[in-house]
Amino acid sequence: MALKITVIGTGYLGATHAAAMAELGFEVLGLDVVPEKIEMLQRGEVPMYEPGLAELLRRHVAGIEGSTGRLRFTTSYEEAGAFGDVHFVCVNTPQKHGEYACDMSYVDSAFDALAPHLTRPTLVVGKSTVPVGSAARLAERLAAAAPAGPAAELAWNPEFLREGFAVQDTLHPDRIVVGVAGEKAEELLREVYAKPIAEGSPFIVMDYPTAELVKTSANSFLATKISFINAMAEVCEAADGDVVKLAEAIGHDERIGKKFLRAGIGFGGGCLPKDLRAFMARAGELGADQALTFLREIDSINMRRRGHMVELARDAVGGGFLGKRVAVLGATFKPDSDDVRDSPALNVAGQIHLQGGQVTVYDPKGMENARRLFPTLGYADTALEAVRGADVVLHLTEWREFRELDPAALAEVTAERRILDGRNALDPQLWRKAGWTYRALGRPRA
Ligand SMILES: NC(=O)c1ccc[n+]([C@@H]2O[C@H](COP(=O)([O-])OP(=O)(O)OC[C@H]3O[C@@H](n4cnc5c(N)ncnc54)[C@H](O)[C@@H]3O)[C@@H](O)[C@H]2O)c1
Repeated sequence: MALKITVIGTGYLGATHAAAMAELGFEVLGLDVVPEKIEMLQRGEVPMYEPGLAELLRRHVAGIEGSTGRLRFTTSYEEAGAFGDVHFVCVNTPQKHGEYACDMSYVDSAFDALAPHLTRPTLVVGKSTVPVGSAARLAERLAAAAPAGPAAELAWNPEFLREGFAVQDTLHPDRIVVGVAGEKAEELLREVYAKPIAEGSPFIVMDYPTAELVKTSANSFLATKISFINAMAEVCEAADGDVVKLAEAIGHDERIGKKFLRAGIGFGGGCLPKDLRAFMARAGELGADQALTFLREIDSINMRRRGHMVELARDAVGGGFLGKRVAVLGATFKPDSDDVRDSPALNVAGQIHLQGGQVTVYDPKGMENARRLFPTLGYADTALEAVRGADVVLHLTEWREFRELDPAALAEVTAERRILDGRNALDPQLWRKAGWTYRALGRPRA
């Protein structure tokens, strides 16, 4: 009989995972502690913006006309325990307040709530990003609390999906990493991922700590690459060089590669920044802090970008924001998402607002979340409206919509034709031809 799967925590990761598991042919029950989220999902509505996810959900959510009916949702751990052969834990692991360390309380409470309902042999699979050592600790806790005892096994299966490509990445992962303590767990996970494995996704089996470290080291590497090019942008600015040309040229070296070499206002979101910090904190606990001191510099280069963008904007409006109107294009931490967690764009907008600027933000999908987080900023319904009367325009999230803007049309409504490209994603020639002063991070003024 086909495996029955539960997905615990139906946020960005969990909602996508649940829908993808149904797409792979399994009966799936998604669980969350937020009843409103569950009600939305039951109606086939996605609580966030992720391309293709709404369609995938509606194809499978029970009760929707024409759906396979394989996907249901609940808030009951009792129901989840009785239903699932394999339970994926996808709850959030944020940064602790006032500390670098990871807050494991959501993971711990999910395990504590599930364990008493595990009465038969089952596999619990952690997907959340956790500090190394967590899986070994949780495996013991699970076996002690579950009526099934050690037959309630644990595996760790870190997730590498990218927001904006979550559906594609979940259905066709570029690798599947599983940390296991026994053969049974590996066997079950091979069954769960049979389709992507058959398509050629590498399935890499390892112990718990290595699986946990794969995720945090992959994130650290990506963050390092971004901060590297941003550090080069700082040097280029000081030396009158052009970081875009520099990135293009070094990217031709296959050992370096072109990806993730776009200089800009840096990374943000619900993962990279907090994962770097949690990794440093954990290494410290393990006595290996020296190995990761470089990550402190990576983090600080990244945070410096936001301040630098504010400075450039201040210079552009004549040295002070008082009485100046600033248009901000972009609120989400990256395009094709509505996620504004630790968004560099909103951070820059917020700083300018605090310094007395009149900020108007427009984002294709992130307006609702941005308003909730920064209610005091101004918001406009279109890019054109945001730019109306602006003394400077800041391009801070690289949405396609912004690349396709007509600089001549915006020139008609803006007070001053000044644009600062915080993502090095616009075509400078196009903007300059329409009479704009275009400036970007790490590039000559021209
Ligand atoms: N978002 C991503 O792109 C991504 C990618 C890879 C890994 N991750 C990791 O996945 C995990 C989840 O991230 P996310 O972005 O989906 O977070 P999220 O905040 O969007 O979702 C977490 C969900 O878990 C629910 N939850 C919290 N406590 C619970 C409990 N005790 N029982 C049931 N549900 C509970 C919350 O209500 C929420 O819906 C994190 O560890 C993150 O680092 C995220």
